[in-house]
Amino acid sequence: MSSSEHRSSSEHRRIVLAARPEGRPAPANFRLEQGSLPVPAEGEVLLKILYLSLDPYMRGRMSAAKSYAAPTEIGAVMEGGTVAEVLESRHPGFAAGDIVLSHSGWQSHALAKGEQLRKLDPAAAPVTTALGVLGMPGFTAYAGLLTIGQPKTGETVVVAAASGPVGSAVGQIARIKGARAVGIAGGPEKCALVRDSFGFDAVIDHRAPDFAAQLAAACPGGIDVYFENVGGKVWDAVFPLLNSFARIPVCGLVAQYNATGDFEGPDRLPVLMRQVLSKSLLIRGFIQREFIAQRPQFEREMAAWIASGAVKYKEDIVDGLEKAPEAFIRLLEGGNFGKLIVKL
Ligand SMILES: NC(=O)c1ccc[n+]([C@@H]2O[C@H](COP(=O)([O-])OP(=O)(O)OC[C@H]3O[C@@H](n4cnc5c(N)ncnc54)[C@H](OP(=O)(O)O)[C@@H]3O)[C@@H](O)[C@H]2O)c1
Repeated sequence: MSSSEHRSSSEHRRIVLAARPEGRPAPANFRLEQGSLPVPAEGEVLLKILYLSLDPYMRGRMSAAKSYAAPTEIGAVMEGGTVAEVLESRHPGFAAGDIVLSHSGWQSHALAKGEQLRKLDPAAAPVTTALGVLGMPGFTAYAGLLTIGQPKTGETVVVAAASGPVGSAVGQIARIKGARAVGIAGGPEKCALVRDSFGFDAVIDHRAPDFAAQLAAACPGGIDVYFENVGGKVWDAVFPLLNSFARIPVCGLVAQYNATGDFEGPDRLPVLMRQVLSKSLLIRGFIQREFIAQRPQFEREMAAWIASGAVKYKEDIVDGLEKAPEAFIRLLEGGNFGKLIVKL
C-alpha cells in the first residue's frame, strides 16, 4: 500500500489530557481528538499502534505535582508504552511490516525516530508480553526484588497487587529463589489466580474484615521482604510483622495515587523511625530505569522462566482506544484482572 493510500484510508485518533484530575480521574479529564496522519521525516517511521499498555504511573503524569518525571501537558497525548507496526519507514533499520516496541502513547498512529524503537520477534513470544511480563512491569519486579529485596531460601516475601504484572512476577521470582511467597489481592477471583496459577504459597484478600489477622497467620515466621506496591492499610498490616533486617523495596503506592489533601490518622513517622532503627530495616524506593543495565539479563532469564513454566502471566485486554480512559480509571481501583492492555 502506498503512503497516500494510508493517508486517505486512515485517520489519526488520539486521546489527550483535557484537564488535570482532582482525586479520582473522570472521563472528562480525557478528550478524543482526530486528525490526518503525520508524515515521517528522514530517520523517522510512521507507526500504526496495535497495543497500548495502561499503567498506574500514568496517574502521576496527569498531575502537575513535582515527581520523578515531567507531567503531561494539558492538550498533549497521554503517555504510554505501545506495540506497533511500521507502516512507512524513512529509517534504514526498519521496513514496513516490522513490529516494534515504542513509547507512542494513547493514539492510533505516531511518528518515531528509529533510535527510539526496538524490533520485536512475534515468533519468539506474543508481542503483548513486551508490555507486561517481558517488559517494563516484569523488569520492575525483577530488578526491585533481586537488587533491593534479595530474597533468600526459606525467607518470606510479601507483595500486594499480586495478580497484576509487577506483583505476580515478584512472587514467582521469589519462589524461584527458594523463598515463600505470600500474595495480597482484592477479591476471590484474583486470590484464586494468585494461588492456583501463579503458585504463591498463600494469598490474602485485603478486603476481608480480618485481613491483618489473616496476614499474620500466613506469615508465622514474620516477613523478610515486603515488596511495597500499594501502601495504605496493607502497609499498616505488614509493618508489625517485619523481621529484623527486613528489606522493603518501595515500588509503588497505588492506594494513595488518587488521594487529595492530608492523609488520615495519627502521625506514624516516629513509630516507623523507631522500628527502622531497632529492627535495622532497609526501606529503599526505586524507579525501574535506574537498573536499566540489568535489562538484557532480565530478558534472558524471564524468557527462560516463561518457557519452563516457572513464571506464568495473565493479560486483561480491552478493545478500542476509546475505552482507554474508563479502563485506566478502573485500574487504579483494582478493576483490572492481569496486565491491562488496550488493543487498537
Ligand atoms: N517504581 C517503578 O519503577 C514502577 C514500575 C512499574 C510499576 N510500579 C508500581 O507497581 C505497582 C503495581 O503496578 P502494576 O502495573 O502491576 O499494577 P496492577 O497490579 O495491574 O494494578 C494496580 C493494582 O493495585 C491494587 N490496588 C489498587 N488500590 C489498592 C488498595 N487501596 N489497596 C490494595 N491494593 C490496591 C489493585 O489490585 P487488587 O484488586 O488486587 O487490590 C490493582 O489491580 C503500582 O504501584 C505501580 O505504580 C512501579
